[in-house]
Order: sequence, then C-alpha cells, then structure tokens
Amino acid sequence: MKTTRRGFVGTIALGTAASVLAGTSLFNKSAMAQTRAADKSGIYDNGIMQLSSNESARGPGPKTIAALHSHVTKRVGMGYAPDHVNELRDGIANYYKLTSANVQLATGSTPLLQGSVRAFCSADKKFVTPMPTYSTSLSTARQIGAGVEVQSLDSSLGVDLDALAAAAPGAGMLYLCNPNNPTGTVHGPGAVERFVRRVMREVPGTMIHIDEAYINYAKAGAMETAVPLAMEFENVFITRSFSKAHGLAGLRIGYALGQEQTLAKIRDAWGMGDVNMLGAIAALTALEDKEHIAWEAQENAEIRDMVVGAFREMGFEVGDSHTNHIFVNLRRPAREFREACLQHKILVGRDFPPMEQTHCRISLGSREQMETAVEVFRKVLA
Ligand SMILES: Cc1ncc(COP(=O)(O)O)c(C=O)c1O
Repeated sequence: MKTTRRGFVGTIALGTAASVLAGTSLFNKSAMAQTRAADKSGIYDNGIMQLSSNESARGPGPKTIAALHSHVTKRVGMGYAPDHVNELRDGIANYYKLTSANVQLATGSTPLLQGSVRAFCSADKKFVTPMPTYSTSLSTARQIGAGVEVQSLDSSLGVDLDALAAAAPGAGMLYLCNPNNPTGTVHGPGAVERFVRRVMREVPGTMIHIDEAYINYAKAGAMETAVPLAMEFENVFITRSFSKAHGLAGLRIGYALGQEQTLAKIRDAWGMGDVNMLGAIAALTALEDKEHIAWEAQENAEIRDMVVGAFREMGFEVGDSHTNHIFVNLRRPAREFREACLQHKILVGRDFPPMEQTHCRISLGSREQMETAVEVFRKVLA
C-alpha cells in the first residue's frame, strides 16, 4: 500500500469512512481489508489511515516483490508439497546455524502462540503473562480453561522479569514478548539470560516462550535473540514472524525455533497451517535480503524519532520504543483520542487494559502518513 499524503487527504471523503464504519466494529479487520472494488478505484483500507495494527507500512522490499512476480507460473497449480517450503525451513535453519529440525513453520506465528498454550497449559498449569502485552496466548489460555496469572508492568512500562520468574511455581508457561507489544520496551541479553537461568534452576519444568516478532526494529545493541538459550534448554522456545519488518503480513508466515522435541509438542497440540509456495519464496528472499531489512529498520527508526519528538514537544510522555509502534501517555482515555482521530480518517490502536484510560498505542505508518498524522494529533490534542 502506498498512500501519499496528497492522495490520502484529497481523494477520500469523510463520508466514505463514516459509512464504511457505520454498524461495524472499529477493529473488525475484514471491514478494513482491501476489496477488489476498492482496489479498482484506488481507495486503500476504505480510506482510513491504518495506525492500529503493526504491519510494516512499506511492505516487502523490491527483491521480494520481484521474487513473487517471477514465481507466478503454472507451478502455483502444484502443491503437495508446495515448491520452496522445505527450502524456506532449511534457509531459516542456515540463517541461525541450526538444523531444520529446530525450525517449525506456521501460517503466521499465531498458530505457534495458540499451539504452545494448548501444549503446555491447563487448568492446573497456569499461563503467566504480563499485561499489557500481545494477547493471543492469553486468549487461548482462556479458551481452553487454563489457569491464568496476569502481571503488571514495572514502573518504566517494561515487563517485570523478576515477577515473571517468581510466578513459575505452578505455571505451565511464561510468556515474554521482547520487544513488547504494545509498550515497545526491550530487555537486553543479560536480563533475559538471568531470567531464563533463574526459572530453569528454580522450577525447571516451566516452559518459557520468548516472542521476538519485533526484533528487527530494536535499536542497535539493545537486545539479542534468545535462540542460544532455546538451544541450551528444552523448555525455552522462540517465535518469529515475517509479518513485521519483512512486510509479509498478508502472506502469513511465521516460525518457531527450539529443540526438536519441544517443537513436536507444539505441533502435536494444534494445527500449524500450511505455508504456500509464494509465501515461501517471498519469505526466503526477504530473510536473505539483509540490506533491505537494515533499510526498513533505519526508515522506521527515523519516523519513530520524528513522531516521538512531536509528542514530547507537545508535553506527552512516550516510552522508549524498539518496535514499529509507540505507546503514548495521553493523560486521557485512548477511546476519546481514537474517536477524535477517526474524524480525520486516522485509526489508532485499540484499548490496552489496564492502561486504556491514559495510554494509546500508535502504529507507525510511512513517512508521508506520519507527517499527516502528526498534524492531526496536534489538532486533536490542542
Ligand atoms: C508480538 C506479536 N507476536 C505475534 C504476532 C502474530 O503475528 P503473525 O501471526 O502475523 O506472525 C503479532 C501480531 O501483531 C505480535 O504483535
């Protein structure tokens, strides 16, 4: 999607936005997704600037787009097994210097989040999660009637690793999103290692899931992948997504890294879905295109600095974000701000309890979008 500022402001009538949204939930994704009719008339996302979910605003890099084009051939009619899927698994393994048995592909990382809760949590093995954080695993725990323990963040809106470790007795699994969604905070390698070693020493039966969906957006030196810990401990595994910095959310590809027997338990508990051949070739190309990922991270960082700077200048506190979204203390309900922005055809993030009375998550769009958005934020907050 490319929405230029002029195109966005000039071509979309507010009426379109209002009528599309009438009678539908703001966060009904299908209401926001592109239709063929909208595509033809050049209206994207029903004319609403999407700052409510954390896909890359820039999509995949040119090499990945070219790889997709060149693979639209008669081979898409074949598919048992689809071309390139095993190659993708091997490619990921090589990238991390692991074996293919240490990689589990899935249709986005979502089935891995769901499957791991199903594999490791139950009524008497609680799921422990900070709040607010990414909530798919928590929703799954509730669906299956597992015990749940929800913990507050620390005073700087980071995950409280000591509290998380202290909750291990009686837990089936602890969830650590690093960097965290929605707060954007990050834990460095020393802190993560101490946390993991403490849990493995004190309550070794506990599983630890470290979700690194946003790792490519972390500031240099702020964090490292916990893959070596997953290789050392059977009870630690990592999930990753191609939906963020690699710009492939619509193709739905994610993966877990861990010991073979750990991945087998997740796979046995829930369907991982299939990866299709176009998704596989796109993911493989995107993974290998390190230059593009570095550019994407830099572009996001510059846009993030610009938007964070604008909020701070307006007198609002913004956490130190290592992601493509920011979490702003607006000192007012997120809902109020969201509704005001929507009048200007900009949709910002949903409520994140228990902080929805003060904080709002804003996903970062393209440079042009965010220049427009900052003007709107200034007006709405004036
Ligand atoms: C932290 C985190 N993990 C996992 C996901 C799931 O993404 P996907 O299923 O597209 O890989 C998301 C999506 O927003 C996320 O924010």
